[in-house]
Amino acid sequence: MDGLHGDAADWDLALALLEWQVDLGVTEAILDAPVDRYALAEAAVRPAVGAAEQTAVPVARAADPVDEARRAAEAAGSLEALREAVAAYEHCDLKRGARNTVFCDGNPLARLMLIGEAPGREEDAAGRPFVGRAGQLLDRMLAAIGISRTSPDPEAAIYITNVMPWRPPQNRDPSAAEVAMMKPFLARHVELVAPEVIVLMGNTACAAVLGRTGITRLRGRWAEAYGRPVLPMCHPAYLLRQPEAKRESWADLLDLKARLGR
Ligand code: URA
Repeated sequence: MDGLHGDAADWDLALALLEWQVDLGVTEAILDAPVDRYALAEAAVRPAVGAAEQTAVPVARAADPVDEARRAAEAAGSLEALREAVAAYEHCDLKRGARNTVFCDGNPLARLMLIGEAPGREEDAAGRPFVGRAGQLLDRMLAAIGISRTSPDPEAAIYITNVMPWRPPQNRDPSAAEVAMMKPFLARHVELVAPEVIVLMGNTACAAVLGRTGITRLRGRWAEAYGRPVLPMCHPAYLLRQPEAKRESWADLLDLKARLGR
């Protein structure tokens, strides 16, 4: 290769490398030598002798959304404080598209707690979980075993929440990252309500609580989470689409009723 073509090839290679770095998110090139910013962040936490001689500015560590959620959740000493902590949490982008933070419904003294997925359009507008068509079916299912979210009697009452307090756009499934950042709030929610028995409604609740999906296999099989018995069931929205699955849900409801000794 002659010098001219060699120079052109070097220039093309340098340009390609630069474009590649821009694609990776590099926005400035100001030093001759590379800077190990992990080492700088470490030094910022534990300044070494001679740290004053460093010329580059340490990079602040970005807050980890899950750690932030854990800290906020653990600091909440009551359901009201937890509701405020969830509403004040800024790391989940779903919050920006939501009209309301949907925290709970029902009786916090209930022996039974239900964990659903996320608010839909009606829930987002009302600020309460399970108020749309699926919620109306849920109320009828619970009524069939003598349970109601409006009952003042803890024996006959239910307390309802969702994994996600904000409606995902177009009712899409919440992402794994979105679920991960809300899990500490859910764990604290369960701890504060301290129910005897928990129902997990659908795949998202099973993924968040049991780390497993496949509701058609999981449903009806008692498991344990948060130190309590949990019963996965098919989501009422699924039952609206697949009415033939109602027969199995009826069996699960009877099993639930027996577990509650009703
Ligand atoms: N589906 C859910 O899982 N939760 C709601 O609140 C509404 C629909």
